[in-house]
Amino acid sequence: MQIAKANTEAIEKAGDILRRGGLVALPTETVYGLAADAMNGEAVARIFETKRRPTFNPLIVHVPDLASAREFAVFTGEAEKLARSFWPGPLTLVLQCHPHAGISDLVSAGLSTLAVRVPAHPVGQAVLRAAATPIAAPSANRSGRVSPTTAAHVASDLGDSVDLILDAGPCEVGIESTVVDCSTQTESAPSLLRPGGISVDQIEAALGKRMGPRQDSFEAPRSPGQLVSHYAPRARVRLNVASPEPGEALLAFGPQIPPHCGPMINLSETRNLREAAANLFAALRALDAEGCSSIAVLPIPGEGLGEAINDRLLRAAAPRP
Ligand code: TXA
Ligand code: MG
Repeated sequence: MQIAKANTEAIEKAGDILRRGGLVALPTETVYGLAADAMNGEAVARIFETKRRPTFNPLIVHVPDLASAREFAVFTGEAEKLARSFWPGPLTLVLQCHPHAGISDLVSAGLSTLAVRVPAHPVGQAVLRAAATPIAAPSANRSGRVSPTTAAHVASDLGDSVDLILDAGPCEVGIESTVVDCSTQTESAPSLLRPGGISVDQIEAALGKRMGPRQDSFEAPRSPGQLVSHYAPRARVRLNVASPEPGEALLAFGPQIPPHCGPMINLSETRNLREAAANLFAALRALDAEGCSSIAVLPIPGEGLGEAINDRLLRAAAPRP
């Protein structure tokens, strides 16, 4: 495992690692984040693998300033107000995503929205500039554990599975950023998705009005039937299929494909789960766009990232409300 004091040299190195698809634990003013290039699907898949997250929760994209945030997301008037009041700082805005801006769709778990934030920590800032790419970063803890506020917390939770841990001492805020949904263009006011480092009072003061009713964040456990806001294909989804039916779309995995005629996408010919995770959401969308009435999915092993892949597929296959 490598922990380095966050000096100029270590920050340059972190930038290199991120550009090459590696993982860096970096300090922000809230908590330490587990960072990867948000434009590299396999690097983002490594985040879920390393955290041992059994589901694909949408992640926050970190950028150095408002101008770069605009490259990836659509700012409403209210989002603009909040960004100007609190960035850089512990506020995350959920906005409509620019679809062709190149963010891996594993980052937002197939949603049409994107969570963005401009961190205030000088080291976090310096790494974003050194990497010169948007950075996906959830808290750098193993899934189910508390968020890390020191480099030592990260090391004890994630240790060798991270390429570099940048140590800049304890985080100042110590709790995660406040997440506010500003993704709707309608009259409805922005709403709180997760309380955090900036209070509701502060946000309402900046907006000059009350926030809308609090929504459920993706951190709260949900049953598949409640996941209406999550992208589900139009087509029916059949899991663990051995032989696809004629006319069905096929979501394949591995080198052995059963006889089939119809559209087909292979998540990974080499049975690489990282590659499969990176391809998953785009593949579901593309097969859905073929207009078949159902999508047959070959069996995908349940270990490692396979757990999150199967969780997502189960949700896609769950009965619709
Ligand atoms: O302070 C923080 O925000 C830290 C540091 C590292 O920046 N990051 C962090 O990320 O806490 P994470 O992945 O642990 O939490 C992301 C939160 C979750 O509550 C998630 O549900 C929400 O943001 N979120 C992300 N994308 C979303 C989206 N498109 N729609 C709704 N909620 C979203
Ligand atoms: Mg977290």
